Amino acid sequence: MEGKRKPIAKVCKSTTEGSEVMILTVTLNPALDKNYVVENFALSGIHRVESMSTIPAGKGVNVSRVLQQLQIPTKATGILGGHTGKLIQSLLDEEKVANDFVWIRAESRCSILIVDEVKQVHTEVIEPGPTIPQGAIGRLNRKLEQLATQSSWVVFSGSPPPDTTPQIYYNMIKLVKKSGVKVALDTRGPWLKTGIKAQPDLIKPNWDEFQELVGPCYSTVQAFEKAKALVDQGIETVVVSMGSKGALAVHGNKSYQISNLPPIEVVSPVGSGDSLVAGLLATLQRGGDFPEAFCNGVAIATSNAAHFGAGVFTFEEVASLQKKISIEKIPF
Ligand SMILES: Nc1ncnc2c1ncn2[C@@H]1O[C@H](COP(=O)(O)OP(=O)(O)OP(=O)(O)O)[C@@H](O)[C@H]1O
Ligand SMILES: [Mg+2]
Repeated sequence: MEGKRKPIAKVCKSTTEGSEVMILTVTLNPALDKNYVVENFALSGIHRVESMSTIPAGKGVNVSRVLQQLQIPTKATGILGGHTGKLIQSLLDEEKVANDFVWIRAESRCSILIVDEVKQVHTEVIEPGPTIPQGAIGRLNRKLEQLATQSSWVVFSGSPPPDTTPQIYYNMIKLVKKSGVKVALDTRGPWLKTGIKAQPDLIKPNWDEFQELVGPCYSTVQAFEKAKALVDQGIETVVVSMGSKGALAVHGNKSYQISNLPPIEVVSPVGSGDSLVAGLLATLQRGGDFPEAFCNGVAIATSNAAHFGAGVFTFEEVASLQKKISIEKIPF
């Protein structure tokens, strides 16, 4: 077990003195999330919505939402389009999440999340999102080059629209790394496989995404071995999140695991991985060490799973979870 850690409240409310350096998040395919609570949802019939919320989403946007609540300077960038894009932007403004997107004509996408608290299931219907025109990628690249110089981390999160080249994150990571910024990559499939060749500093696949990258893992020991192999290839930190089973991490030559999460009443785990990334980077930004950052990330992620909406948590719950979460140092 690791030594004593600062409670999250302290980490989150400690200083930002000296640095207005921000954490930049990049979302190539943001969405307007419509979250519906429906009792006894089924595949046919008419369902009346009991309560609902409309929130701007997309993985990077979720990361920025959490960072903003933790009072870490952040800016969300990426691609927005059409009326849906305008609504996403104005809702972000309302939330005081600073943003600076490249605009296209085509409509940004909508996603529908149906939470059924009776059956305890959630169902997502996700639009693919607009194709990104080449010119918009050029404009985004120029914006990234400029914003990276004001950032400590650039976080590339989520899947681009389906017909986007697998090279897209690889190219962008190479571009921003020229300014010396650190890079986190949280994506899946071909974008992750190609993106890691640009050596991001941190990746955070979930269990399925990780196995898609490295092949099947039949135990956490095997997962640690495969994560270590990625670290040997030049990625400093590999965090693999495993939903209710917690997460494992290899950071440099050290390996950690958080299992036995305190029981919570799961409402919606959507955005939990994004919350983990945000909590982890926020703690590092405030000068915390990796085990502390990993614990804080997992505590915020777990609180997110207990709430409706992506990047939604309470400080009280996080503080309480943080006291109960134990991190194990894995001796290999
Ligand atoms: N059902 C759950 N119960 C408790 N904690 C959870 C649950 N689901 C997620 N979490 C917390 O959130 C973290 C990240 O979850 P998960 O592995 O599901 O991320 P993810 O699939 O990347 O999510 P997303 O991409 O939607 O943000 C976990 O390590 C855990 O701390
Ligand atoms: Mg994820």
